[in-house]
Amino acid sequence: MKRPAPPADPLHIAALALESLGGPALLLDPALRVVAASPGVEGLLGEAVRPGALAPRVLCGDSLDRPIAEALAAGRAVTGTVLRPRRGGALRSLRVRATPVGADGDAPPAGWLLLLDAQEALALDAPDAPLLFHGMWTGDPAMKQMFHVLQRAARRDVPVLVRGETGAGKELVARALHDLSPRARGPFKAINCAALPPSLLESELFGHVKGSFTGASRDHAGIFRAADRGTLFLDEIAETPLDLQAKLLRVVETRTVIPVGGSEPIAVNVRLVAATHQSLRRAVELGSFRADLMYRLRVVPLFIPPLRARAGDVALLTARIVDELNGAGERNVARVSPGALAALARYPWPGNVRELRNALQYAFVIGEGPVLTEADLPPEITSGEPDEALAPARVNRPPELEGTPEAQRIQRALERAGGNRTRAAKILGVSRVTLWRQMREHGLAAPG
Ligand SMILES: Nc1ncnc2c1ncn2[C@@H]1O[C@H](COP(=O)(O)OP(=O)(O)OP(=O)(O)O)[C@@H](O)[C@H]1O
Ligand SMILES: [Mg+2]
Repeated sequence: MKRPAPPADPLHIAALALESLGGPALLLDPALRVVAASPGVEGLLGEAVRPGALAPRVLCGDSLDRPIAEALAAGRAVTGTVLRPRRGGALRSLRVRATPVGADGDAPPAGWLLLLDAQEALALDAPDAPLLFHGMWTGDPAMKQMFHVLQRAARRDVPVLVRGETGAGKELVARALHDLSPRARGPFKAINCAALPPSLLESELFGHVKGSFTGASRDHAGIFRAADRGTLFLDEIAETPLDLQAKLLRVVETRTVIPVGGSEPIAVNVRLVAATHQSLRRAVELGSFRADLMYRLRVVPLFIPPLRARAGDVALLTARIVDELNGAGERNVARVSPGALAALARYPWPGNVRELRNALQYAFVIGEGPVLTEADLPPEITSGEPDEALAPARVNRPPELEGTPEAQRIQRALERAGGNRTRAAKILGVSRVTLWRQMREHGLAAPG
C-alpha cells in the first residue's frame, strides 16, 4: 500500500536523504534531539541511537564535554572533534561536521545534519585536529593533554591549581572543572584575591558579623559559604597577603570558616580551584607565599600554555572568532588575508586569547569589506611590539605606574575611534560603562 505524500517539511526531506547516505550521519531537530540516524551510526558508535535522544549525550556521554552543542547553540555550521567515552573509561574521538538544515537568512535552522567521521577515530593521536572543550578551541597537543588531566581531576574533590598567563583561559578551565564535577549543580563562585584590599578580602572570603568593623551593618556570609556544595575559584592566589594565607590554610585544613569578628567556626563544603599567572613555587622561594598552603592547593596542577607556544592555535582561534563576529555585527569577513595571518602568527600575544579577540574586534570595527587585511589590525600587532598595558607582569606593577599605560591605551583607542566611545569600548574589549568609568578615573575626555 502506498503511503500518503508527506508534508513538504525540510526535516522530513532531509530524513529521506539521510537514508540514502552511505556514511554515518544524524539528523537533529532544533532542540538537538535525534530525528533520524543513518544505518552507519550504530556501527560507528557501537550502539543503536533512538529517535528523541539528545545528540550531545549520544556523542559525548553524560559527564563529558558537549562541544558540538555549544557550537550548534551559536547557530553556525561547525567541524569539530568530540571525545566520546568508551566502555572501560577510555576516550575516543569522533570528527563531526554539522550543517544547519533549512536555515533561511537570519532565521534559526529547522534542524541539523551531523556527518560523523570514523577515519579520525584516533584523533587524540592526530595531534592538530581541532577540538572544542568547554568553550576552549585548540589543536595543540599540550592543551589536549591538559584537558585529559582536567577531566580526570574534575571527578574527584581534589584542589586544582591552574597556571596560565592573563587571557589564556584560567577562568574557562575553572568552570570546566566545576561543570564536569559531581558538584556541577551546586554554585560556582569566583573571587580575585588581587583585586581587594586585605581587610576587605578577608571579610569577602570568610564573612563578617554585624558590628565587627565600621560599615559592617549586618552579618555577611562570605564567599566560602556562598560556594557551599559547589566550587570556589580563588583567582590570582599568589597575591593573597601572608596573614590571610595562614587563615586560608586553616580553612582548608579544618573545612570551617570563622567570620571576621566571630568566634564560632562554621563548616563549609567547598571544592577549591586556585589560579595564578606566576609560578607559586617561585613565590614560595621569594618568601611571599606559604609552602604549606601551596602544597594544599596544588594537588593537581594544570598548566595552560601561552597562545604563542600553541602552534596553529592562532589561525584556528582567528577562524572561530571571525565566524562568531560575522554573526554579531555589521561587517562580514569571508577571508583573512595571508599578510594578516602572518602578522597574527608572528605576534607574541602577551594578553593571549583575550588579546586576540580584542584585536579581531578592532579589525572588524576599523576595516571594511570581505577581506580582513593587515591594515585592519591594531598597530602593535603589525609592528610586533606588544601593548605594554597587557604585559603579564601587570598585576605586580605598583598602582602609581598602573594608571599611565592604561590611560595611554584608552587615549589611543579613543583617537582610533575618532572620539566615538562605543567604538573605543569595542576596541578595548570593555563595556561602554567600564570605558566611561575608566575615563573618569584617568580624567580623560574624548577628543573631538
Ligand atoms: N581556547 C580558547 N578558545 C576560545 N576562547 C578562549 C580560549 N581561551 C580563552 N578564551 C577566551 O579568552 C578570554 C579570556 O579567558 P579567561 O577569562 O578564561 O582567561 P584568564 O586566564 O582567566 O585571564 P585573566 O588572567 O586576565 O583573568 C575569554 O573571553 C575566553 O572566553
Ligand atoms: Mg581570569
